[in-house]
Amino acid sequence: MLQAMGVTVVAVTLLDLPLWQCLHWMISTTEVYLYRICLNFHGVKIYPNKISCGKELNLRKKMKDNVAEEHLYLAFSHQYRDSIFPLHTSISLFLLSYCDCKLFKVFLVPTGEDVGDQCVAKNLAGDLEVHLISRCQLPVVVQSCSLPAVVVKDDKFCRAGLSVVLRHIIQKTFEADPSKKEVLELLGFKKTCLKACAEVSQWTRLCEISIPLAVERFLTASSEHCQAIPPDILLLERKLGEPVRVHNDDKIRRQKLQQQKAGAKAAVPVLGEEATGELKPEVHEHPPSSLELSVAFSKLLAQEAPDANREAPNIRRTKTSDLPLLDHVFAEGLYFTVADLVLLPCIHQFLVSSKKQGKNLVNLPLISSWYRRVQEVPGVKKAAGKCNMELLQLPELVSSPEEQLQDSASVPDELEEDHEDSHFIGGPRPTMTKLMENGIEAKFSPHPCPSWTLDWTSLPSAVSPGEGKMSQDRALRKQQQLNNLVAAVTKLAKPGDLIVDFCSGGGHVGIVLAYMMPSCQVVLIENKELSLIRAKDRSDELGLNNIWFIQANLDYFNGTFNIGVALHACGVATDMVIEHCLRARAAFVISPCCYGFIQNTVKFKYPRSHQFKEILSYKEHMILCRFADQTAVQLPPERRLIGKQCMGLVDLDRAWAAEEHNYSVQVISMEPESCSPKNNMFVGIPTECESI
Ligand SMILES: C[S@@+](CC[C@H](N)C(=O)[O-])C[C@H]1O[C@@H](n2cnc3c(N)ncnc32)[C@H](O)[C@@H]1O
Repeated sequence: MLQAMGVTVVAVTLLDLPLWQCLHWMISTTEVYLYRICLNFHGVKIYPNKISCGKELNLRKKMKDNVAEEHLYLAFSHQYRDSIFPLHTSISLFLLSYCDCKLFKVFLVPTGEDVGDQCVAKNLAGDLEVHLISRCQLPVVVQSCSLPAVVVKDDKFCRAGLSVVLRHIIQKTFEADPSKKEVLELLGFKKTCLKACAEVSQWTRLCEISIPLAVERFLTASSEHCQAIPPDILLLERKLGEPVRVHNDDKIRRQKLQQQKAGAKAAVPVLGEEATGELKPEVHEHPPSSLELSVAFSKLLAQEAPDANREAPNIRRTKTSDLPLLDHVFAEGLYFTVADLVLLPCIHQFLVSSKKQGKNLVNLPLISSWYRRVQEVPGVKKAAGKCNMELLQLPELVSSPEEQLQDSASVPDELEEDHEDSHFIGGPRPTMTKLMENGIEAKFSPHPCPSWTLDWTSLPSAVSPGEGKMSQDRALRKQQQLNNLVAAVTKLAKPGDLIVDFCSGGGHVGIVLAYMMPSCQVVLIENKELSLIRAKDRSDELGLNNIWFIQANLDYFNGTFNIGVALHACGVATDMVIEHCLRARAAFVISPCCYGFIQNTVKFKYPRSHQFKEILSYKEHMILCRFADQTAVQLPPERRLIGKQCMGLVDLDRAWAAEEHNYSVQVISMEPESCSPKNNMFVGIPTECESI
């Protein structure tokens, strides 16, 4: 029937119908055809492929899955050798190639002036079709995010930022083809690889932000003159030298001990050239990591790991603290993960450029051997080939201990994790007294409407936080917290306003706001996928159409908005939300939490305000933060009182810091105070125009 129709006619008919209807119509015919519909700047192409009827059932399922076409948007500034810049784009394309994933329609979005498609000279993504689109043509929700970003076509759910998008590509690939177990393994143990936000995980920050940025800067500068090795690369080198901790490492460490005791001189096979398709054993001449190598590569090849059951009694009796430590095989430790796939295009570009400059890589022996080892992973060379990445054959490097020492010394302190604050001695009184002597005490503005409450009984159940597994008591307290935030936002909001619920979790705040204020648009931003999916389900149940969902670290949101809201944004996230609001000159209503997690980050230094900085050191301020977390109901009342005062002081510092940017900020206690141990709330309003 389809064959009888002219292709052009079919094309027009299909394009006039929503995609779902087209597909439904196609699969309901007796002969089943799979149509790949490809839209690009040059118009419409249709590629018909006849599929046998026997596969219909499978196809139905597949087509149904494919109905939700997903669009992947990648930034494009320029092309340099075998990379598309920014490097986040090259990394995303490399992962798609490695996973052999064709599930996304991929768009390159020029960052500067419009770039014609002829500028993407080489086909950098192998057999992947890539389209060009200008920024103003992007879906609205994507326009307010940093790329990469993925949206389901015509949907309101967007995923943004490198880690979130890469994790999504991996999950989609596995869902579409569950036989690709090795792809799912990229997410690591408990599927947590690059899941934590960059401001709380130094590892995510290094992979997602610091290394790609450092390499981009290195390449830009190195075209003019010879550059020193970027400190972030040295930090990676140092991390690769740290002992590895993995789940079940006791067992592997005992095996290592056994091997060491047996004077395991025997050469251990590692993978040979993957291009040959065979696993040629090669002699690895570095026994110290031979056990780790065989454990790691056994997993990649889905082989049995070396047998651990025959430990000698003396090995079994050895104390854990006396067992040998494990060496890195891959970036995160023993196993190959998405972190390796993120780092490879970056380190590759860095090495190519260094080689061109004649730079001596003797300072980077661990990165060099990691780079060689990653090439041995099945599928890596093939993916690199598809992306035109000509991987280098590096010689094995050995550096002297003095050279390694020299390198370590050149990693700046600010790149190191700050551990000193975990050992605070003494209580908060000296710090509080110091502030008091300078006339600074926690002070709370009167609550503008202490007894205002939503009429929860008249609201649909999906609006209420009582849904799900929450206990009645918790649901009541959540409702009380929401009363406070909603009252403050209602006072500030005007019709047409865009309200952003940062750190939205399951959408408790955002959903109430969207329901109560249909004339406003509400955007929910949350890093945890499952929480945001729950929020979307609740919103769908209510039929809300003034709400958007962005799964991202909130740092990837760069849109303009009128009011920023956050209920219990953890630690530094509260300061990130305030920063976003100041930048957008938006009013804000924020209730902080997890004061104990506050610490200096690359972007934020504490204390925040000039007044506090003049009086308190970082360490003294951290004492306040640690004690601000001591407000739990189980604690003695006098401890909780001190906790509340510390909370007030930390938030006063934040309020004053915002006031330095022409805001009027009030710190208020939520009503009733028992609604949460973290019951502070700021309300900030811009007093005059200013941009930071
Ligand atoms: C304590 S929960 C509060 C959730 C919700 N607002 C509520 O009150 O039910 C904090 C949430 O912030 C999210 N979060 C923390 N830092 C974030 C960041 N940088 N970007 C996006 N979400 C973040 C966490 O994933 C978590 O779901």
